[in-house]
Amino acid sequence: MLGRINHIAIAVPNLTAAAMPYRNLGAKVSSAQPLPEHGVTAVFVEFDNTRVELLEPLGENSPIAGFLRNNPFGGMHHICYEVADILAARDRAVALGLRVIGDGAPKIGAHGKPVLFLHPKDFSGTLTELEQI
Ligand code: CO
Repeated sequence: MLGRINHIAIAVPNLTAAAMPYRNLGAKVSSAQPLPEHGVTAVFVEFDNTRVELLEPLGENSPIAGFLRNNPFGGMHHICYEVADILAARDRAVALGLRVIGDGAPKIGAHGKPVLFLHPKDFSGTLTELEQI
């Protein structure tokens, strides 16, 4: 059920500083894109096989604010795997005893596709996102 890694998200306190080493090492780095409905500003670093998303908090209730309080220099926030059918993936996860965050209803993620998050306690401390492609 888990397909390709769609992206790896890294929460950062400063996007310009965070993007610099990727840019200097020759990666393709986007401009900063504010995503107010998701409480972040994002820079996308494109690779042949996946993408790294650098996420800086935006606004008062950013979902990554608490993570950055605990990790003030930034850190890996989540990994996103592609799935063909988000509801089937959710039902399979639940049947396996994996914890879905929130009410279990998929939300529209930062790429306009349905997403769900699975609890880091079930993935060795790593918040896990499923995105329907
Ligand atoms: Co994500």
